[in-house]
Amino acid sequence: MIHITINGIPREVTEDTKILHAATMAGYHIPTLCYHQDLPPTGNCGLCVVELGNGKVVRACTTPVEEGMVIKTHTKRLFDLRKAGLEMILSNHPNNCPECIKNGHCELQSLSERLGVRCNVLPTIPRTITRLDTSSPALVLSPGYCIQCNRCVQVCNDVQEVHALEASERGFETFIGPTLNRQLEESECIKCGQCSAYCPVGAIYEADDSDEIWNAINDPDKIVVAQEAPAVRVALGEEFGLPVGTNVRGKMYSALRRLGFDYVFDTNFGADLTIMEEATEFALIFKTNPDEFPLITSCCPAWVDFLEKFYPDMIHYFSTAKSPHQMLGTMVKTYWAKKMNIPAEKIFLVSVMPCTAKKYEIERMDTMFASGYQDVDVTITTREFARMIKAYGLDFVNLPDEEPDNPLGEYTGAGTIFGASGGVMEAALRTAYYLITGEELPDPNINFVRGLHGIKTGKIDVAGNEVRIGVASGIGNVRTLLDEVKKAKEEGKPIPYHFIEVMACRGGCVGGGGQPWGSKMTIRKQRAKGLFTEDAEMQVRQSHNNKSIQKLYEEFLGKPNSEKALKLLHTKYIPRPLFQK
Ligand code: SF4
Ligand code: SF4
Ligand code: SF4
Ligand code: FES
Repeated sequence: MIHITINGIPREVTEDTKILHAATMAGYHIPTLCYHQDLPPTGNCGLCVVELGNGKVVRACTTPVEEGMVIKTHTKRLFDLRKAGLEMILSNHPNNCPECIKNGHCELQSLSERLGVRCNVLPTIPRTITRLDTSSPALVLSPGYCIQCNRCVQVCNDVQEVHALEASERGFETFIGPTLNRQLEESECIKCGQCSAYCPVGAIYEADDSDEIWNAINDPDKIVVAQEAPAVRVALGEEFGLPVGTNVRGKMYSALRRLGFDYVFDTNFGADLTIMEEATEFALIFKTNPDEFPLITSCCPAWVDFLEKFYPDMIHYFSTAKSPHQMLGTMVKTYWAKKMNIPAEKIFLVSVMPCTAKKYEIERMDTMFASGYQDVDVTITTREFARMIKAYGLDFVNLPDEEPDNPLGEYTGAGTIFGASGGVMEAALRTAYYLITGEELPDPNINFVRGLHGIKTGKIDVAGNEVRIGVASGIGNVRTLLDEVKKAKEEGKPIPYHFIEVMACRGGCVGGGGQPWGSKMTIRKQRAKGLFTEDAEMQVRQSHNNKSIQKLYEEFLGKPNSEKALKLLHTKYIPRPLFQK
């Protein structure tokens, strides 16, 4: 242990503790701007300065404690230094908060309030860097707002290992953008939106598509239909002050109806359908051609984009099952439209997703038009949905709990855990086991796939055979699993995994790039807990036991992987160049 003194009070902390953490543990909150608890500290902004006993000023986020260290966290000199640092940042910032998408959620704004910086005392140095980049269907880059904290570059390079962003120019003209001055859409970017989740200001954010929805709602010729991903229900409440991880499914349906949606279904139904198709693929390979393993899950569009760009030689192992909201989209515009006698062209289908990449997915290839129309018309993120609720003036917290419309609203516990890393695998194994053995998996809880670890592995016994499982979340972790598989194949050795689940965002969709601002690993964990709690409380926890799914196959699709199901519910993949230019 190391002995230090913080503001005159002796403390004992472990070796290698940074001053910032030691102070937090002692109850002193030092202002930070570039620092984020999920990322290694960079010491970029200089706002976390503290004073040592020898008068030296150091950055608390990067400086480790030393034996006998005397630390002061809130002297007059430090207040002045922090204010001056913040004023310097603001002198080069647009400071037009009402126009900024981050207004009310901005870390620069809240720090200014906290440090009492209310007007620009330094002359403003207008930025010549505007370069608004709207090329991507998923994200907008607005480098004029950038404060060069470097978090987005850290996330893109070190967590996702995509390396799409870099700093260009120097001094006040420095800006962060796609490599080699490309537009985002021309770059390697896989649209995961993790850069936007970590940006403290309004410099990277989701492309906002809510106007299209208002237009459709106000068009008397449109039947406007909504579906919502599992991870949305355990995050949306944060926007309205509810505890992290609160499951607000009933209020979510209620809010959608009050906004003007004519029908409200649930993507969890689509998740059950995806499982039927994907688990059938698994069972078929298991029974007929195990050399074809591994089977890799495909419901994450950022992961699909990554695979097509970075691992085209592995496309063969990808499940062709579409993601849950795309499957549900096709079913709305075919099966349900026919049942209801509504012309498909009148239906305007909106997906509410935790995800920025879904905005790209809805048009990524012709298979997303399987109904004869664009299966999903618009995708909005949890953040856009929350803004719509606020714009409408709904008292969200006090809305009554309602149920979704049926038959495309009924779902099982397997459908709801899709939103957390490991959930797709757990759901798929429950059904694959049943399809192979004719019996229910003795314990539906497969605990080794749960949790926030970037890589989770384990095995289960299926009909006397060992099935090896790999689960990765955070794209950087995927490479490890794929490279293990490639090496085993090349060397003619048994493959390390038969079934692999991949989610681009750490912790899965609960940590998606479109979830409420301020997402960190501790918050992702609480959201995932909310989903697993719902699963544990449900009477039906296997997709194949969903009565509406059974009826859909009886009345319309035939059986999983039938010719009709393959046409409507499956997709394909093509190698894509890393750069469009
Ligand atoms: S969306 Fe993902 S891949 Fe694209 S720049 Fe941001 S972090 Fe990188
Ligand atoms: S874009 Fe945002 S996250 Fe990236 S360096 Fe600028 S302020 Fe930081
Ligand atoms: S993990 Fe989920 S939220 Fe993240 S990119 Fe994939 S589908 Fe979207
Ligand atoms: S928070 Fe420590 S330098 Fe920015």
